[in-house]
Amino acid sequence: MRRAKITIIGAGNVGATCAHWAAAKELGDIVLLDIIEGMPQGKALDLLQAAPVERFDARIIGTNNYADTAGSDVVIITSGIARKPGMSRDDLLATNLKIVRTVTREAAAASPNAVLIVVSNPLDAMVYAAWKESKFPTNRVIGQAGILDISRYRAFIAMELNCSVEDIDALLLGGHGDDMVPLPRYTSVAGIPITQLIKKERLDEIVKRTRNGGAEIVSLLKTGSAYYAPAAATVQMAEAILRDKRRILPCAGYCNKEYGVGGFFVGVPCMLGDHGLEKVIEVDLDAEERKMFQASVDHVKELCAWVDKNWAASET
Ligand code: NAI
Ligand code: 2OP
Repeated sequence: MRRAKITIIGAGNVGATCAHWAAAKELGDIVLLDIIEGMPQGKALDLLQAAPVERFDARIIGTNNYADTAGSDVVIITSGIARKPGMSRDDLLATNLKIVRTVTREAAAASPNAVLIVVSNPLDAMVYAAWKESKFPTNRVIGQAGILDISRYRAFIAMELNCSVEDIDALLLGGHGDDMVPLPRYTSVAGIPITQLIKKERLDEIVKRTRNGGAEIVSLLKTGSAYYAPAAATVQMAEAILRDKRRILPCAGYCNKEYGVGGFFVGVPCMLGDHGLEKVIEVDLDAEERKMFQASVDHVKELCAWVDKNWAASET
């Protein structure tokens, strides 16, 4: 049986950690690509040499050449700059638009049947740019953010209740920004509604910390942003696709009629399988939730309008 092929573009913190998780899960053969010469080759060789200890079988190569990525089933895009203290994700827009366009063009040409998983920030605008650049069907371009955001929320709830993270189920909608929408009404612990376990005021604080989760880590690291949890989240998406698991995960999926979004990529519950985005699952929102979701979508639309306006100027 042919092994799956996974290309990871950008061999920095998130990219290299994606390679680590994907190799440990034996998801397939891995190609790690970066613009810096020698670095992806060195990291790939290092990771390969962990295989006899950790006992995983995977061919792992590092490269600066897109020819090595040809025929990939999944391409993960992590290339671009990360934020530093005081920066918002939106401050990365102009720089990362050029980078994401360039790498998408090359990767899509080498792997025309791949599913693209975009990670670079600002996420919702970068997924949109990767879709425009690749001209791939919308089911084969998906962004990673919601799994990370909801994972932070679940981790904080587990810390609060001193219980296992495994028992916490939750839902989050919207863009990967400070206006993301965690939904306490759709959060439960072993089937028990969270509202029965944590008082509203305390839950509001947890929601606030979740929204600020990326910035909290940036302010501690000082030189970059989070990567263990983002990479774990990204590899969970790749696994759902490559193993056709049909998992329902919060991702930036293309929504047209769904949630009345009108043709943008925003965080919604997505079923992921062999075809990439198999379908978007719609849930009922009350008036307050809908208002917050709409504000988040409006922000995503503003970023995408900037992408459209600067499309010609960002051509590389
Ligand atoms: P990093 O700086 O450690 O790695 C980025 C890598 O991209 C570098 O190795 C750089 O050489 C490479 N790169 C830049 N231009 C390139 C090009 N044209 N071709 C190939 N490689 C190129 O940054 P890190 O921490 O890995 O973050 C990467 C991106 O992911 C950032 O934009 C960050 O904001 C975003 N991010 C998104 C998350 C999400 O949940 N969506 C979570 C964490 C990070
Ligand atoms: C995060 O939320 C940087 O977007 C990234 O950690």
